[in-house]
Amino acid sequence: MSSDLMDKLTSLAKRRGFVFQSSEIYGGLASTWDYGPLGVELKRNVKNRWWRDMVTARENIVGLDAAILMNPKVWEASGHVEQFHDPLVDDRNSQKRYRLDHLLASQTPELLSKLATELLGRAPEGPPDPDTLTALTEAILAQEDVDLNSLGLLADGKAADWTLPRQFNLMLKTHLGPTEDEGSLTYLRPETAQGIFVNFLNVQAAARQRLPFGIAQIGKAFRNEITTGNFIFRTREFEQMEMEFFVRPGQTTKWLEYWTDERLNWYISLGITPGNLRVRPHGPDELAHYSTACNDVEYRFPFMQKGDDSEGWGELEGIADRGTYDLQRHAEFSGKKLSFMDPGLNEKVLPAVVESSAGVDRTVLALLTDAYHEEEVKGEVRVVLRLSPAMAPITVAVFPLVNRDGMPERAHQLVDDLMGDFAAFYDAGGSIGRRYRRQDEAGTPFGITIDGQTSEDQTVTIRDRDSMAQERISLDKVKVWLREKMG
Ligand code: GAP
Repeated sequence: MSSDLMDKLTSLAKRRGFVFQSSEIYGGLASTWDYGPLGVELKRNVKNRWWRDMVTARENIVGLDAAILMNPKVWEASGHVEQFHDPLVDDRNSQKRYRLDHLLASQTPELLSKLATELLGRAPEGPPDPDTLTALTEAILAQEDVDLNSLGLLADGKAADWTLPRQFNLMLKTHLGPTEDEGSLTYLRPETAQGIFVNFLNVQAAARQRLPFGIAQIGKAFRNEITTGNFIFRTREFEQMEMEFFVRPGQTTKWLEYWTDERLNWYISLGITPGNLRVRPHGPDELAHYSTACNDVEYRFPFMQKGDDSEGWGELEGIADRGTYDLQRHAEFSGKKLSFMDPGLNEKVLPAVVESSAGVDRTVLALLTDAYHEEEVKGEVRVVLRLSPAMAPITVAVFPLVNRDGMPERAHQLVDDLMGDFAAFYDAGGSIGRRYRRQDEAGTPFGITIDGQTSEDQTVTIRDRDSMAQERISLDKVKVWLREKMG
């Protein structure tokens, strides 16, 4: 499986109404996607489940919905203005753009060893490690007017004509009000977390929480990503589910461990194959500017390309020890005291933070990838999305076997009856075989058929998507049967 699977997923997503290319009739917009009728339900199921498990089911976590636009000083304090950037360089020959650190990683070990000797005064033994690559990137950026051509860097193995490298900030800029000058400049938030930090005291006071407690939020975030692609894996507009957990300073290590376990298990609870999930601690060279330790929950995406992964693993979520970095910086930049009298401690404290930061879109992509199966049935390929009943956009489809003899009316009646409790869907289009196949592709776990026998003995057949087994049950047992299967 490879990019072939990606093409199949993208095409199924469009065909069934999970995900469409944004602005498609105008040729689209790079790496921007819209969620269709089934996609929006799948996404909603992910978000509702997260909210239920992270907020509703926990006494010490409360919610927040902060604005996307914030005072630009927030982004100075958070460190994003100064540090949230990628080092970029262009090849004038091919007009292609590269991240300098990725470009360095693609050079021959001999050249890298030569560069390390010249620029760092040491040559690594064997292939260069990530620390050496980071040090090299920094050494090159530190030189004024550095000429990458004289260093002999190749583009995809070919000679190139390099521009000067430059730091490119990933925040999307916008202007508020009628003038487009420095004074009106602000940013679309690159993470939802800062809305939580700046509201920390408001929430603590209003919700009367004591340490440890968390503030959770789901919302859009924006980044002017350079290396986009892999469908909805890396986009410029995406949705995050973030929870900042405030603890006594010195207790972050234990909470980092706790949340890493909780979060890994959460993905398993959505029905994702445990063998396709792993936890990977960050090396010191990959930590974000605000964190001292971070564990990523990763999914094994078969189609992942270089740059997004290590050997096909892609990040779904980061669980990070942010320490007191954010609250301290906001206290400094705003001039407001952000420490508070914790009733449990009886002393003023500036809490430290352990963050759980997950991507809605990446969770959706992992669910779709994990659920996608092809199998041969009677000489034909059956495409089936094995989504768990709790995640599937439609729980139960109801079909009249034929469009006469009162069957459509009975089927509508059943849909009406089910709709309050389950995501039920009526489908009368085409042969029953075609309708089954459509629902298999939509990931609908159960299909109920109203047939000639229904009017005689008040029974229906229920088909299981995965086994394709059918059983006959009485109409008044349908809800109980479904509830049992939903678990
Ligand atoms: N507040 C911490 C933070 O934002 P991050 O690792 O940069 O950390 C957290 O992002 C999560 O947000 C990622 O694990 C991923 O699921 C999602 N995410 C980040 N950038 C994304 C992008 N360009 N497209 C889609 N999802 C993205």
